[in-house]
Amino acid sequence: MSEFAQLTFDENTIQLPVVRGSEKEIAVDISKLRGQSGLITLDRGFKNTGATHSAITFLDGEKGILRYRGYAIEELAEKASFAEVSYLLIYGELPTVDRLSWYNNSIVHHTLVHENMKSFFSAFPLGAHPMGMLSAMVSTLSTFYPGSQSSNRSMEDIELTIHRLIAKLPTLASQAYKHNVGLPTVYPQNELSYTENFLYMMFGLPTEEFEINPVVDSALNKLLILHADHEQNCSTATVRVVGSSQANLYSSISAGISALWGPLHGGANQAVIEMLEQIKLDGGDLQKWIEKAKDKSDSFRLMGFGHRVYKNFDPRARIIKKAADDVLEALGVDDPILDIAKELEQVALKDEYFVERGLYPNVDFYSGIIYRALGIPTEMFTVMFALGRLPGWIAQWKEMTENNDPIGRPRQVYTGPTERPFVEIDGR
Ligand code: CMC
Repeated sequence: MSEFAQLTFDENTIQLPVVRGSEKEIAVDISKLRGQSGLITLDRGFKNTGATHSAITFLDGEKGILRYRGYAIEELAEKASFAEVSYLLIYGELPTVDRLSWYNNSIVHHTLVHENMKSFFSAFPLGAHPMGMLSAMVSTLSTFYPGSQSSNRSMEDIELTIHRLIAKLPTLASQAYKHNVGLPTVYPQNELSYTENFLYMMFGLPTEEFEINPVVDSALNKLLILHADHEQNCSTATVRVVGSSQANLYSSISAGISALWGPLHGGANQAVIEMLEQIKLDGGDLQKWIEKAKDKSDSFRLMGFGHRVYKNFDPRARIIKKAADDVLEALGVDDPILDIAKELEQVALKDEYFVERGLYPNVDFYSGIIYRALGIPTEMFTVMFALGRLPGWIAQWKEMTENNDPIGRPRQVYTGPTERPFVEIDGR
């Protein structure tokens, strides 16, 4: 049975179809609104706009629910490997033993990047931010695989590009780090798991034996799973919009990496640690920083707090907070920054300003503390987020392509000058 919402404007009433999702979400389909009424909708920041149908991730911000393809994030973080989760996101179902082995096998065959890529790395200044290098290098990959640029790509071509990206991102991420600190590149070892290989390339040296700490590996696996998808967030929406012009997958992901870098999105994990360090250096007066965050004339915001869709709690933050305690204990790390973070959370959660606005710690509030404990430098934190988010970006790009979503092209309400005659320079 079709359902409609009515809109009355200028004495005309029009019927707009209502669409229901599988989790009882309700939307008004306004795709014919302009033709029927001359109106467009205005929604700065897309706070109430559904850009697409999607069967990948469900979240309920009020109840703190997050599920990938129907599976609860809590269960996946506890029981799955990142490879299984990335397969689940991209292919829609959990892999069988055979399919997982096929997938892992394909990934390990693509972990190397072309040797010429090294000359691009050497052109970056020492200390270049790894996110800037990563975004550039991922876009550069498209020039090594020109087949990926064709808009007549076969399903096999697309699958190959997907596997190449999943395989090469940890290699590029570790190379970006090695370049940032001036250390030699370490090549992948294909008998290692996805997360082990990344740790080996990050922290190993070509001349030394490297032992992978299982506590570090398991924490990394959990962190990547928790970041793997988050429906239509800023970077994912970017990937979809760029991809909707039929730009190739490498360029679309590169754009997603750039969107993620901003401190209001994935860059918040770096910003949180920098903020906590600043608070510590400043003497640890938490109330002073809370007041700064509340002061509308001050641009400072409490980093790692607040979320566009979670107004009660971020389920990923709960898991990460617990994991931070476990990891620090297992590794015997005593980080005073963790104590400041916990105190700051308590002070903020009792403050009327934060309570009224539903501002709670988000995924980035505690993730940096674990990354620090794992030995990952601050400038690499957002790269870690990108490694985790990659399968989500890919799954969303693939869904958009398979659904033949139209090119992303919002409208606007123009507020500039109306038509006026051009005045030549000597008359101005
Ligand atoms: N500190 C102080 N005030 C805040 C904060 C904050 N962290 N976040 C939101 N507010 C205030 C904001 O000033 C506004 O107040 P008012 O109603 O008086 O104007 C109100 O809360 C609503 O905020 P908003 O900016 O309209 O909300 P939004 O949905 O547009 O922004 C956000 C969401 C995440 C960008 C924002 O909460 C923020 O800037 N947080 C800090 C950065 C951060 O931690 N980002 C990581 C997000 S989680 C990772 C990811 O998935 O991207």
